[in-house]
Amino acid sequence: MTRVLYLIACAAGPAEYLDEGVRQARSREWDTCLVLTPSAARWWQPRLAELEALTGHPVRSRYKLPGQKDALPKADAMLVAPLSCTSLNKWGAGIADTLALGLVSEGVHLGVPVAAMPYFNRAQAAQPAVARSIADLRAQNVAFLDGPDGYDAHPPRQGDPRAFPWHLALDAVEAIACPRP
Ligand SMILES: Cc1cc2nc3c(=O)[nH]c(=O)nc-3n(C[C@H](O)[C@H](O)[C@H](O)COP(=O)(O)O)c2cc1C
Repeated sequence: MTRVLYLIACAAGPAEYLDEGVRQARSREWDTCLVLTPSAARWWQPRLAELEALTGHPVRSRYKLPGQKDALPKADAMLVAPLSCTSLNKWGAGIADTLALGLVSEGVHLGVPVAAMPYFNRAQAAQPAVARSIADLRAQNVAFLDGPDGYDAHPPRQGDPRAFPWHLALDAVEAIACPRP
């Protein structure tokens, strides 16, 4: 596997099934490195070693200390999935207080292809900040994945995180990272 994907997960429902996203990415020949928000890392805390065995890389969730070396290879593409409502709004506002948001907010302006698939309910989506943040991300060339080829907010208490469409997120990554001539 020569191409490197950073799969970046926030603390939203499908993060519980992140191993499925890793398996699908690896089956498409992506050397997959996991970066979790600190909240998502808490969800996986007892099973982080499982994710490290699956990816063959350390799972990162915090900024390194000054002077520390990078633990992961350079990314050819980044996918934020699932993107929580909170991280969406922080990202749109330019707040990079987690490694997860730091990587993508800088990465997209360093020319790395970046896609993001949200997962939150319609009550969360109704906040005016959400539409603004989505527009701000798209203006920065982030492939924000909603509509038929992505994920649209579900009615409250009716989400099905197991059915998160990882395959659509990975299709989109391939479209932006490996465009057909
Ligand atoms: C069990 C549980 C499930 C949650 N599911 C979601 C979700 O599906 N989508 C979402 O946007 N937030 C969800 N949240 C709220 C986020 O975890 C919360 O906003 C958190 O601050 C997000 O931080 P992060 O984006 O840095 O991971 C959930 C919280 C809990 C405790």
